[in-house]
Amino acid sequence: MKFFVDTADLDEIREANEMGVLDGVTTNPSLMKEAGGADFHEHIYKICEMVDGDVSAEVTATDYAGIMAEGRTLAKIHDNVVVKVPLILDGIKAIKSLTSEGIRVNCTLCFSPTQALIAAKAGATYISPFIGRLDDISSDGLELIQQIVTIYSNYGYNTEVLAASIRHPMHIAACAQIGADVATMPLSVIKKLLNHPLTDNGLAKFLADWEAYQKTVNA
Ligand code: E4P
Repeated sequence: MKFFVDTADLDEIREANEMGVLDGVTTNPSLMKEAGGADFHEHIYKICEMVDGDVSAEVTATDYAGIMAEGRTLAKIHDNVVVKVPLILDGIKAIKSLTSEGIRVNCTLCFSPTQALIAAKAGATYISPFIGRLDDISSDGLELIQQIVTIYSNYGYNTEVLAASIRHPMHIAACAQIGADVATMPLSVIKKLLNHPLTDNGLAKFLADWEAYQKTVNA
């Protein structure tokens, strides 16, 4: 399973990258707003230079011509850029065209299996189902991941399932068991994947016993 960090904050991206398990980055306009102040294209370039992996940069146009123009410009920033396109009618048309030009696309804001099916037919490199936002409205985000994995497997689509809007480690455990190709998550969730109180307690006991043992050896 590939791990992407879901942020535009350069310090967070650096910290995630230094863990040595990072495969890419996803950004969106809201995350850019949080990062604040930076020129968008320069910022995406900096991220691409920091991380050896795919970096999603989102278009803000919603019409075919606008998405195409923005997508082509974003793709020229760096080889690592994957153009993020919303799952709307003009977005699907643009995904087909951008893909035929060799530009890789992350199809974003997916909330249903039929949306995911049409994105794969258009040739998207990644589909981003937002599981946390479905859970937020008492729907089942993980069920959507299962449905998409099954549909893509049934027909052999190469589009990678990129589980997004991840809220906690149990989302990751479940997505990994279902077989999602990628998960994008905040740095806080990546760190939480490591946590277990029995590991901390066990290590504290080992270190205390080692110290006691050393005293007997040196006595
Ligand atoms: C995915 O690419 C999105 O940036 C992200 O996962 C959305 O998550 P949110 O629902 O926490 O905003």
